[in-house]
Amino acid sequence: MQEITLIRPDDWHLHLRDHDQMKAVVNDTAAQFARAIIMPNLVPPITSCKQALNYRQRILSAIDSSHDFEPLMTLYLTDSMSIDEIKSAAESQYIHAAKLYPAGATTNSDAGVTHIDKIQHVLEAMQKYDLPLLVHGEATADNIDIFDREKVFIDRTLTKIRQQYPELRIVFEHITTSDAVDYVISQNSKTAATITAHHLLINRNDLFKGGMNPHNYCLPVVKRELHRVALLKAASQHPGKFFAGTDSAPHAQNAKESACGCAGIYSAFAAIELYAEAFEQAGDFSNFEIFMSLAGPEFYGLPANKENITLTKQSWTVPDSLTFAEQTLIPFKAGQTISWTLGK
Ligand code: DOR
Ligand code: ZN
Repeated sequence: MQEITLIRPDDWHLHLRDHDQMKAVVNDTAAQFARAIIMPNLVPPITSCKQALNYRQRILSAIDSSHDFEPLMTLYLTDSMSIDEIKSAAESQYIHAAKLYPAGATTNSDAGVTHIDKIQHVLEAMQKYDLPLLVHGEATADNIDIFDREKVFIDRTLTKIRQQYPELRIVFEHITTSDAVDYVISQNSKTAATITAHHLLINRNDLFKGGMNPHNYCLPVVKRELHRVALLKAASQHPGKFFAGTDSAPHAQNAKESACGCAGIYSAFAAIELYAEAFEQAGDFSNFEIFMSLAGPEFYGLPANKENITLTKQSWTVPDSLTFAEQTLIPFKAGQTISWTLGK
């Protein structure tokens, strides 16, 4: 395969940050995708529709006029989220979901939900008003091994939410294990999952190859090779249940390369090319357009995009670093080659 043409994709899970940092990265995404689901884990988090709409305006003002890009906003669930806010979000044409971060699970999740029982009324309202629930699916207790956190979350929390709210649309975000793949496949069309390009391309050896590599550290942490293979199979062989969500999450170089380095991988600059690399490894592009461009809009009840993009088999070298406001950002696969190029 030397050239692939497909409907312009969307990114169903993206971190843009805010202000100058957001300005430094948002056009990388707008050059690639038509729309993106924008994560609400700012400091302070986006917990109201008003904040989400203001944040949307800041994003729109930062986009170059050469791009046609729509940010799809989300709310951050806390123990004190109100039903009125959920109703307003569901009624807004700009807000598309609410995100459940178990408190302490990841970057800027301290204000997240401390126990699922605290938000039962909220989940009920989300089911009633048909506002999708996006979950960071990791159990957080200290005594749970970090590599088991996704499975424990499925067993202890997700299964319960699913049983209690059968009509609630749930996106299991950035899945990393064969357990999550099996769970999503076993469910009806109300449950879907996003898969990142990096979880399709690296495994836990890449955290330690030639020394500790903080730029491959994200949450959920990358897992064993058998899980990566299960993700590749899910993305390429199960049309409709899984779709692209980069979880591109920029952190300044000094915040990554520190004694307590932040979780997050920056992939937005080449997201579509990276997914193409993964599908090439899977050896089957037949469902590439469904995964990249069709399954997400279908799940969110939005139309597919109209224009096409073309990828060409032409390799290029990822820069060693990018500028990030006053700081430096180390991109995923810095200094390495990517074998696909996205046409202009
Ligand atoms: O690696 C991650 N980074 N995982 C998340 O869930 C959050 C994200 C971030 O905001 O940096
Ligand atoms: Zn994320």
